[in-house]
Amino acid sequence: MKRDLISIRDFTREEIEALFSLATDLKRRLKRGKSHPRLSGKTLALIFEKPSLRTRVSFEVAMTHLGGHAIYLAPQDIRLGARETVEDGARNLSRWVDGIVARTFEHAQVERLAQYTTVPVINGLTDLLHPCQVLCDLFTLHEKREKLKGLRVAFIGDGNNVCNSWLYGAAKMGIHFTVACPKGYEPHRDVFTKARAESEATYAVLEITHDAARAAREADVLYTDVWASMGHEEQRAKRMRDFKGFQVNQSLVNLAQKDVQVMHCLPAHRGEEITDEVMDGLHSIILDQAENRLHLQKAILVKLLGDES
Ligand code: CP
Ligand code: NVA
Repeated sequence: MKRDLISIRDFTREEIEALFSLATDLKRRLKRGKSHPRLSGKTLALIFEKPSLRTRVSFEVAMTHLGGHAIYLAPQDIRLGARETVEDGARNLSRWVDGIVARTFEHAQVERLAQYTTVPVINGLTDLLHPCQVLCDLFTLHEKREKLKGLRVAFIGDGNNVCNSWLYGAAKMGIHFTVACPKGYEPHRDVFTKARAESEATYAVLEITHDAARAAREADVLYTDVWASMGHEEQRAKRMRDFKGFQVNQSLVNLAQKDVQVMHCLPAHRGEEITDEVMDGLHSIILDQAENRLHLQKAILVKLLGDES
């Protein structure tokens, strides 16, 4: 039976910890120059309706390192759902490739794709969720911190796809996760409710506030993302006004723990949600975070596409 990764909820905590171990091993092998062709002869299709640097490149490089191959299909190449139905495209792709990474606007589009393919589908970002990003972020914190349980993460900014996936990730791993956003920009209500329900078993704490300083106080990690995500560009001017006071700058960093770590999924709009000083400063682990897209996603690929899966 194939497995998909549409949401972090598709994996158990134990499976996520196993991904961390595998990613650690694959990362060490790479640094030592040892090959690890775990997906030799396999092909991954990347179907992207939105632009990407990190997700596209890290998955393509991952397949190269794993001895397989990746095919990037841009929006104008296949126009799934317009040139032909999602069902027909999905059934065709299943006859050739071993897995699909899809980045779509509508979350239901990735779900439809998963429903009609016989190969694993990995969500490479939708308007609702960005599970690969947050699994890689959790891996980065797993590497840098003694334990994830009880860690205090403050997400400053828009309650967007990254924030929604963080709610699921925090609930699963027992993290204290506080979202600080302007009124009207809260995370998805249904996601919050489901994450809260899961948090009861893991003792995670999930909160929403409209006060960035309150969220930053005592935070071990300050996380931010753009104020206007892909697809919201036309709201940019309004959002620039609404998000004033939700910038990760030196004053906010000063409120947090002394060893606070600053994260951003990227791309960043420097001078808006984060200042140059903080982004390039001593607390930033943003580039390690970007690098880990490669290592943890390799583990996801081996888990879902590997012969032992
Ligand atoms: N963080 C992230 O997913 O970056 P891209 O949009 O460049 O893939
Ligand atoms: N929230 C951002 C994340 C980009 C990786 C967006 O959807 O544009």
